Amino acid sequence: MEENKQRSHILRGNILYARSPGELVTAERAFLVCIDGKCAGVFETLQDAKDAMPEQYADLPVTDHGDCLIIPGLCDLHLHAPQYAYRGLGMDMELVDWLNRVTFPEEAKYAEITYAARAYDDFVSDMRQTATTRMAVFGTIHAESTLLLARKLSEAGFGAYVGKVNMDRNAPDCLRETDATESFTQTMDYLRKFAFLKSQGKISDRVHPILTPRFIPSCSRELMEELGELARQQGLKVQSHLSESKKEIAWVMELESDMPNYGACYARAGMMGNPVPSVMAHCVWSSPEEIEMIREGGVFIAHCPQSNTNLASGIAPVRSYLDAGLHVGLGTDIAGGFSRSVFRAMADAIQVSKLYFRYVDESKKPLTLSEAFYMATMGGGAFFGAVGSFLPDYELDAAVIDDTGLRSVLAMNLAERLERAVYMPEQCVLQAKYIAGERVF
Ligand code: GUN
Ligand code: FE
Repeated sequence: MEENKQRSHILRGNILYARSPGELVTAERAFLVCIDGKCAGVFETLQDAKDAMPEQYADLPVTDHGDCLIIPGLCDLHLHAPQYAYRGLGMDMELVDWLNRVTFPEEAKYAEITYAARAYDDFVSDMRQTATTRMAVFGTIHAESTLLLARKLSEAGFGAYVGKVNMDRNAPDCLRETDATESFTQTMDYLRKFAFLKSQGKISDRVHPILTPRFIPSCSRELMEELGELARQQGLKVQSHLSESKKEIAWVMELESDMPNYGACYARAGMMGNPVPSVMAHCVWSSPEEIEMIREGGVFIAHCPQSNTNLASGIAPVRSYLDAGLHVGLGTDIAGGFSRSVFRAMADAIQVSKLYFRYVDESKKPLTLSEAFYMATMGGGAFFGAVGSFLPDYELDAAVIDDTGLRSVLAMNLAERLERAVYMPEQCVLQAKYIAGERVF
């Protein structure tokens, strides 16, 4: 165990990481130096003159991962832990029906802490075995259950933003806080207890609370304004959903008829970025005005292609978002998405971008593997700080992938091996995982 906690060490293997959306860096059988949990550099050799490892690292312990691929840990920028239990069910519905008929009755069960404990054990132990290292995750409206989720994620070593959900309207009684005051009070209670658990060492310094108004139909204007004020005062981040489906947007415009667009409802409450860091899931149908708000606020977009396909929401124009320089990461959106794999999210993102290109707009080139890899690592990682790359001073999150299951008579370079691992992750094995330099798997 002592060795696992070692935060200054060297990993050896086939190293791949993104430097920008179009730039994949690869280094065969190279050395990745980790000093106090952070990347200090990738070196080709120990001794040779060119790109040799500096002398001061010579005494660090080396873990040799052989012929495995070592990539930055994957970042899941949007998912719902309480929905994990029923992933793969109810996939013949669209968003609003699916929420009312499947999701809300299920999430109501998390009022019961023993139910939550069992479900979140399954969730965290399964997520532990994926290449995911960081996540922005929704709990439910229940503070105690969501605190339990945060503790379990912390024990498993994850870096995470964990949100107690706010809902004070348009939900069944069993999953609705009575009014804005009650919802706000529950949030304050969550934040206080979260801080206490941190002070007791029961939640690590990599796991944080995040304000989580579910979406505009679930949150009154009064509640949104109180939460926005709280975010500004306490320097909290915000996560929510934005412009996911056409029916949802029509509902928002009916509820908030004095607003020019969906995003403006968040902006009015100060939740569309600067100075409040925020991540919005989906943005499938964002108007040019809304996109401008996203750009100006530096809002992160969590692109969730599998959820958008399952719920027949649509295809987000991610090529345009990347070209406009917006922050874009990938989300599994469990359980709109059934897969917990961010590799699968990369493949889905590429595939739906091809359908968009062919069916919607032939000027929008499909995403490349390197762009999808960037979104899954550096793009989403930026929400968590210097995360998602092996450039110097990035936190050392790494997934070590054994791809021998993909053996072939062909000789392949590292970029080709990564591509196949993205498309066929079920034929690969996670050999090890490091978060901020600590071995967690
Ligand atoms: N919009 C509001 N709540 C949800 C949710 O749980 N999942 C998805 N995909 N969209 C939402
Ligand atoms: Fe979602």
